[in-house]
Amino acid sequence: MTISREEALERIYNPSGTADLRESYDAWAREYDTDMAARGYKLPGFVTALVARHVAMGDGPILDAGAGTGQLGEWLDMAGYRNLAANDLSEGMLRVAESRKVYGELKCEALGNRLDYPDGHFRAVASAGSFGVHHAPASAFEELVRITQPGGHLVITVRHIGMEEGNFPQEVDRLEQAGLWRTLETHGPFFAFRDEPDSLYMAWVFQKTG
Ligand SMILES: C[S@@+](CC[C@H](N)C(=O)[O-])C[C@H]1O[C@@H](n2cnc3c(N)ncnc32)[C@H](O)[C@@H]1O
Repeated sequence: MTISREEALERIYNPSGTADLRESYDAWAREYDTDMAARGYKLPGFVTALVARHVAMGDGPILDAGAGTGQLGEWLDMAGYRNLAANDLSEGMLRVAESRKVYGELKCEALGNRLDYPDGHFRAVASAGSFGVHHAPASAFEELVRITQPGGHLVITVRHIGMEEGNFPQEVDRLEQAGLWRTLETHGPFFAFRDEPDSLYMAWVFQKTG
């Protein structure tokens, strides 16, 4: 069953589960970029700035985790990064991402499950707007560390509302104390949308240890 864009938008921030979230993004995919531009969405540009500060130009794949329609991939490509891979829950969002022609590989798979990549595969992982209490879960962090090469970077944003409930700060600390990553930068809470004071986000840059 397909749902309307209006219904999808209502369900995005309070889905009844993963299948509902996937269906909502599938239904929103074609209008996502226009709607987000109208709201003044800033995260892909901000995440690109953090990547540019830490990740050298060069070879080796970079994962856009929860890539959606591929806005972050487009920014990274403009900044000169190549060998980009995309992952997302929603096939509909990934179809739009594919049309941008900046990703060499796109996979429809859920963050929070085991990902179909070998240990240390990516030299960096970047993610804009995909983690939050009703979106990609904190439990996915350790899997992203697994698929990052030692010394590689992870640039991650998390929606601020419900962050404690979603266990995000706790998981950041747990992985640091377990010696899996170290925090290089912390930002926020900051506005991710122009004129939307309720849409606050946090951002971190981590380096995988070892
Ligand atoms: C607000 S959009 C952000 C998309 C894109 N990164 C951007 O900045 O425009 C959130 C994206 O996260 C994806 N998502 C939510 N939960 C996910 C999960 N568990 N695994 C993978 N993707 C997920 C959604 O399908 C959606 O494409």
